[in-house]
Amino acid sequence: NKRKPFVAGNWKMNGNRSLVESFVASLDSDVAQHVDVVICPPAVLLSSFNSASFSLGAQDVSAQDNGAHTGDMSVDMFKEAGCEYIIVGHSERREDHGESNALIADKAKKVLAGKLTPIVCVGEPLSVREAGNVESYIAEQLDALITALSVDELAKCVIAYEPIWAIGTGKTASPEQAQDVHRFIREYFAKVDEALANGLRILYGGSVKPDNAKTLFAQADVDGGLIGGASLKVEDFISICQAAN
Ligand code: G3H
Repeated sequence: NKRKPFVAGNWKMNGNRSLVESFVASLDSDVAQHVDVVICPPAVLLSSFNSASFSLGAQDVSAQDNGAHTGDMSVDMFKEAGCEYIIVGHSERREDHGESNALIADKAKKVLAGKLTPIVCVGEPLSVREAGNVESYIAEQLDALITALSVDELAKCVIAYEPIWAIGTGKTASPEQAQDVHRFIREYFAKVDEALANGLRILYGGSVKPDNAKTLFAQADVDGGLIGGASLKVEDFISICQAAN
């Protein structure tokens, strides 16, 4: 396929200025030559990344433009801080902050209106997988997005499939498990528009490490990864980026 590989590191609530410095020093443009590389640090660290040879992203955003929303940050603010991407709907936001599918779709729409790219996360908890309901669960998450966004808008999104049971657990989905869901997601979008589905980048997230990245990324419908823990070590992150090449 002709989809450009994509690797995003989500630092979550980790990192500090010295970690920023090690990334700016070690992650050079060679790594990012054939892969879109994005780091999503905590918002307060964004301004420390001057002269980075990779893109920056935010971990979440408000669905509002501005106003009395203490603690929230807007698309325009992230844009001004140098972000090109914003993660929306991470399972930790869904769980810790009760974010609904509809709210996440609103956020994605807001990100697109600001001409940034949303990385929209979906994924099932273990109970849903054990009950054999993965596809219907993911379909419901995608439906909210498909309802709220036009085909042109959907085409500008990046989707991340992150099975919740694989996040931070060291328990990666097997390449086959990942591919099955990625294929399902692509086919689901193909019902909306075939060209959209073919061009859509779908990332896998959940305990991606240097030693399993290559086989995961080799799957036909896996276009890269959303990396948590392994994005906190610059050498590991670089080898994951290389695995996507
Ligand atoms: O956003 C990243 C994911 O939640 C994956 O995290 O690589 O630590 O499992 P992890």
